[in-house]
Amino acid sequence: MAAQISTGTSELRDITKMERIGAHSHIRGLGLDDRLEPRANSQGMVGQAKARKAAGMVIKMVQQGRIAGRAILFAGPPSTGKTAIALGMAQTLGSDVPFTMIAASEVFSLSMSKTEALTQAIRRSIGVRIKEESEIIEGEVVEIQIDRSLTGATKTGKLTIKTTDMETIYDLGTKMIDALSKEKVLAGDVVAIDKTSGKISKLGRSFARSRDYDAMGADTRFVQCPEGEIQKRKEVVHTVSLHEIDVINSRTQGFLALFAGDTGEIKPELRDQINTKVAEWREEGKAEIIPGVLFIDEVHMLDIECFSFLNRALENELSPLVIMASNRGMSRIRGTKFRSPHGLPVDLLDRVLIVSTKPYAEEDIRQIIQIRCEEEDVTLTPEAQAVLTSMAGSTTLRYALNLISCAQVIARKRKAELVDVEDLRRAYTYFMDEKRSVQWLREQQGTLVFEEIEQGAAAGEAMDSS
Ligand SMILES: Nc1ncnc2c1ncn2[C@@H]1O[C@H](COP(=O)(O)OP(=O)(O)OP(=O)(O)O)[C@@H](O)[C@H]1O
Ligand SMILES: [Mg+2]
Repeated sequence: MAAQISTGTSELRDITKMERIGAHSHIRGLGLDDRLEPRANSQGMVGQAKARKAAGMVIKMVQQGRIAGRAILFAGPPSTGKTAIALGMAQTLGSDVPFTMIAASEVFSLSMSKTEALTQAIRRSIGVRIKEESEIIEGEVVEIQIDRSLTGATKTGKLTIKTTDMETIYDLGTKMIDALSKEKVLAGDVVAIDKTSGKISKLGRSFARSRDYDAMGADTRFVQCPEGEIQKRKEVVHTVSLHEIDVINSRTQGFLALFAGDTGEIKPELRDQINTKVAEWREEGKAEIIPGVLFIDEVHMLDIECFSFLNRALENELSPLVIMASNRGMSRIRGTKFRSPHGLPVDLLDRVLIVSTKPYAEEDIRQIIQIRCEEEDVTLTPEAQAVLTSMAGSTTLRYALNLISCAQVIARKRKAELVDVEDLRRAYTYFMDEKRSVQWLREQQGTLVFEEIEQGAAAGEAMDSS
């Protein structure tokens, strides 16, 4: 078994990668310059300079492979951009470095244990860059000749390929003939054919044929006819995550499980085998480990067992950089009766570098609102912009951002292009923010269901939400 560990292909990553839209779709990076100084307003990011700069430094260290097995905590009040900064980091890292994002509550699922869920998340965040040598036929197509049998069921053929130095004729089977016609390969094309997988890639048209056709597409690329041998050994590099290797090799799940997203639990023995194999590849120089980033949002939702598991996992040799975010102050650690800063046990906090995020200044809020308006394709009148900014100050930034699209619906109803103060005011009356909701609950005085909490539990709850 260990000898046959397969790694899938690079195309896998595109399928399993998540598409992110919604509240943070305006974030396109961290908005830092080359010296890691935060630009005032760039890539959708505004203000929060210190935290962004810290994030930039972390990215630098990740890229240099120096920070595996460490942990960072973003701590700050709600809607101060913790999640936004993490997403900005993901976009800055580039596609080769794995970035996994989970919310802590995802760990509590019925289909697998907490530790299995965490292990999968950790292994998803460690990339293995694998170098493979493959044999490639590369040259200019001189002629394709296809013979159909009388019934048309079988096809045979010959493919003549040349480089500047030599010319060779290859026999073609049905599969190759289909592949060639699917790629629309013609005489005069320069192609590369992977001998093991049979994959054909068109590199372009030969310069020698540039005057042959006048009806050529605008995107036709001309290339030189290759030199030297037709058959070459070429090194191909692809990156997969440890988790992907796990799933592909787990006998019950297999390759298709990655598409379904339903991977179930993976046996520890299999993971051991894979770790050994990967270590072997590393020694042979065939593979390289790329520690990526695991982002755990709302980390205070993890419980004490998860925290102690994380503690240990961080010391493992194959460990990613773990970034956490919490908006809690002193609060109860789940699964215990103890209170601790940010809801994290002190022994974990001890290993963590803490970056704090602060509430935004009015000017920052104004700019964030403006960016969101552009993103949602809404235009506010200048007065409405000022009103919304001050609303964000008295309620929260998130509430103000949510009002943008509500107010637009109201403005559309009166067939107006611009959203005005009156639309905002109406949206404000339709939708309550947290403060007004609490006020309203007080006024209702117990007419809602299940309001009373027993004395003992109330104390615990109060700590939880402090
Ligand atoms: N510096 C910023 N630049 C641009 N947009 C921002 C910035 N900070 C926050 N936002 C936007 O404001 C909204 C709230 O921010 P975010 O969700 O990141 O807060 P948070 O700190 O994660 O809050 P919570 O603790 O409640 O999870 C999001 O839509 C986010 O994209
Ligand atoms: Mg958040």
